[in-house]
Amino acid sequence: MPATVITITSGKGGVGKTTTTAAFGAALALRGHRVCAVDFDVGLRNLDLVLGLEKRVVYDFLHVAEGKAKLGQALIKHKQIDNLYVLATSQTAEKNALTNEGVGRVMEQLRAEFDYVICDSPAGIEHGAMAALYHADHAIVVCNPEVSSIRDADRILGFVGSKSKRSEDGRDPVREHLLVTRYDEDRVKCGEMLPVNEIKEILSAELIGIVPESRSVLRSSNSGVPASIDPQTDAGAAYRDAVAHFLGETKDPIRLPGQAVGNHPQRGFLMRLFRRG
Ligand SMILES: Nc1ncnc2c1ncn2[C@@H]1O[C@H](COP(=O)(O)OP(=O)(O)OP(=O)(O)O)[C@@H](O)[C@H]1O
Ligand SMILES: [Mg+2]
Repeated sequence: MPATVITITSGKGGVGKTTTTAAFGAALALRGHRVCAVDFDVGLRNLDLVLGLEKRVVYDFLHVAEGKAKLGQALIKHKQIDNLYVLATSQTAEKNALTNEGVGRVMEQLRAEFDYVICDSPAGIEHGAMAALYHADHAIVVCNPEVSSIRDADRILGFVGSKSKRSEDGRDPVREHLLVTRYDEDRVKCGEMLPVNEIKEILSAELIGIVPESRSVLRSSNSGVPASIDPQTDAGAAYRDAVAHFLGETKDPIRLPGQAVGNHPQRGFLMRLFRRG
């Protein structure tokens, strides 16, 4: 079966797309799926950094798209998580350097080799973001509970429907999902941030999770082990809940941060990864 392509996108920058790509990639790989996370953010490469693989990048997405390297030479395997691979992007190239043909060829190869391909999109609606959306089977729109972030997310949802290969080919539309991140209950209470029910009213996509604002996320990024698999944090539990909702494994209502359960079947293994066990 060819891979399912999930594009992680947003209107506004800095909302948590790269964090989410790493989190979903790790969680799916830990379920035994073969996963490749692909960095579409040319010039602002940081997916490899969040996954602790930055020192191992020799060839990147652009090299493969231009035929200067084979896919196998550019794929980097995660150190601790079997089945998780990263295709990094160029740190130096121009934002528009990826051609549609080149991206198409690489995506075709990735679809043949993996179960899931997760595309980390740049923010906004420029070339890289559109390239990542074009190939999507699913789009996860990430937004923070702020008016500007939600307005921009709404704009992106318009593009998801119309600019995909799926719509071009007349297939079923891209499935749209919404992930709220950096949710801060205190700021919602004092009116600085919007409550989730209001976000749900504005945006039509299906809500799959709410990830709290948490210092643990930065700590995870710095250690190269994704937030989703930290067995001891609310953010980790929320990301795992989101993956379960995305996969349709649960029909439970989405929990607000603080209510997440967070038990993980591989807890012992994860505790060792985080060296707290
Ligand atoms: N739930 C969270 N709690 C606290 N900090 C977070 C959370 N999610 C992301 N961050 C932090 O916010 C910053 C931006 O996150 P990230 O790089 O994932 O966003 P992005 O949407 O990929 O940004 P860009 O649009 O620049 O690509 C990072 O410093 C990250 O550690
Ligand atoms: Mg990013």
